[in-house]
Amino acid sequence: MKFLIKIGLLLLCTLEAVQPSTAGTCAINKYNEDDIQDAVEKCTDITLNSISVPPNVTLTLNLKQGTKLTFQGIVTWEFFEWKGPLLNITGVDIEILGAPDHIIDVQGTLWWDTFGEHGGKIKPVFCVLHGLKNSVIHDLNVTNTPFYAISIEDSDGVVVYDVYIDNKEGDTKGGHNTDGFNVWRSNNVTFTRISVFNQDDCIAVKSGTNVLVTDTYCHGGHGLSIGSVGGRDYNIVENVTISNSRNENADNGIRIKTVYGATGLVRNITYKDIVLKDINNYGIFIDADYDLSTGEPTGVASDGVPIEHITLQNITGTVKKTGVNVYVIVKNATDWHCTGIDVTGGEQIKECVGIPEESGLSC
Ligand SMILES: *[C@@H]1O[C@H](CO)[C@@H](O)[C@H](O)[C@H]1NC(C)=O
Ligand SMILES: *[C@@H]1O[C@H](CO)[C@@H](O)[C@H](O)[C@H]1NC(C)=O
Ligand SMILES: *[C@@H]1O[C@H](CO)[C@@H](O)[C@H](O)[C@H]1NC(C)=O
Ligand SMILES: *[C@@H]1O[C@H](CO)[C@@H](O)[C@H](O)[C@H]1NC(C)=O
Ligand SMILES: *[C@@H]1O[C@H](CO)[C@@H](O)[C@H](O)[C@H]1NC(C)=O
Ligand SMILES: *[C@@H]1O[C@H](CO)[C@@H](O)[C@H](O)[C@H]1NC(C)=O
Ligand SMILES: *[C@@H]1O[C@H](CO)[C@@H](O)[C@H](O)[C@H]1NC(C)=O
Ligand SMILES: *[C@@H]1O[C@H](CO)[C@@H](O)[C@H](O)[C@H]1NC(C)=O
Repeated sequence: MKFLIKIGLLLLCTLEAVQPSTAGTCAINKYNEDDIQDAVEKCTDITLNSISVPPNVTLTLNLKQGTKLTFQGIVTWEFFEWKGPLLNITGVDIEILGAPDHIIDVQGTLWWDTFGEHGGKIKPVFCVLHGLKNSVIHDLNVTNTPFYAISIEDSDGVVVYDVYIDNKEGDTKGGHNTDGFNVWRSNNVTFTRISVFNQDDCIAVKSGTNVLVTDTYCHGGHGLSIGSVGGRDYNIVENVTISNSRNENADNGIRIKTVYGATGLVRNITYKDIVLKDINNYGIFIDADYDLSTGEPTGVASDGVPIEHITLQNITGTVKKTGVNVYVIVKNATDWHCTGIDVTGGEQIKECVGIPEESGLSC
């Protein structure tokens, strides 16, 4: 029976080669560049089933409008030292999902060496979602990314829900800079029920507008972040709400960082109903002194990227003894509204600089 269905599918794909105007279903069960590009051109229902992508190859999927792309079985990429991305998806009205029990296993352990982007092996970015419009990504399980996991770039209208990025093994096996989600130059992006276990930002809005994050769980990384903003080709983050989320064992709880000496704008950011637990360094960390080239703070804030209209509401939880509960170093910041801040446990004190008057936030 299964065999007959397979023949049926094959026929369907073959028929479409003859009638390219009718879109249909295509299942790819073994990596073959031509088969995949054929499917991408002809089908709007594509399943990638247990394929292993060869080394030094980007799986590029410029999907037809309205395509449903399903990952099934175990999908992997072979080891190679290069920058990637390993997967690059583009399209309009796209749905990307995982079939029950699939796993996208990027085999990060082969690359991890504790250095991340600062040396050692050259590590590929896993996935770039480029220029997506009006699209949905859901029920995906990604494990062990060598480096950044998923970047949403130059996109407008993306809904992401029930995505699980599991780089837990990186905690003991040298994972570093394994960002969960990064958003670049995009508008109207919604994240719901995301779980990220990693060793860098959980979700970071680097640039973009109208981003919502809710019901998210982060573990072990660098926090729920805005930025760093500044020093790139587009340097605005505006209208972001991060709510009802939990962040545990991370270096930072919530973090807004802008680049020293750069220009840009951070405006209308809300963090609301966030629970922190066992944060290592900073519970709440807002700094305008980030050095893009070294990745370290300069210790002096600059005012080229004003941090305006910030709302922190109901942020509670714990920082480890050796950490700092709240640290702010900003210049030219205005219009902050902070209520229900109860972050405790950190015994280190750092003097805050530039908190707007009557913001309700104190160090
Ligand atoms: C890797 O891919 C690049 C670009 O396609 C190519 O120039 C290079 O020769 C490849 N390297 C190896 C070792 O195959
Ligand atoms: C991804 O693909 C798009 C369109 O094919 C291309 O413009 C973009 O540069 C690619 N991104 C990367 C990081 O390779
Ligand atoms: C993803 O993994 C989680 C945790 O193991 C599991 O509960 C969930 O069913 C998986 N989702 C899919 C679509 O396989
Ligand atoms: C935002 O994106 C969603 C999903 O693509 C879409 O349904 C919605 O209309 C968009 N909102 C605006 C204001 O464009
Ligand atoms: C601020 O951003 C939120 C979305 O995060 C939006 O609902 C709200 O209207 C924005 N407020 C202003 C004043 O732009
Ligand atoms: C921010 O949200 C407000 C209120 O919804 C809207 O008027 C404004 O255009 C948004 N800003 C951007 C850059 O989208
Ligand atoms: C504060 O946030 C937590 C976590 O989202 C939530 O359970 C609690 O009800 C919120 N408290 C208030 C007063 O809104
Ligand atoms: C501060 O920001 C305002 C705009 O928000 C700008 O006009 C001004 O030049 C900035 N710098 C200082 C030092 O006030």
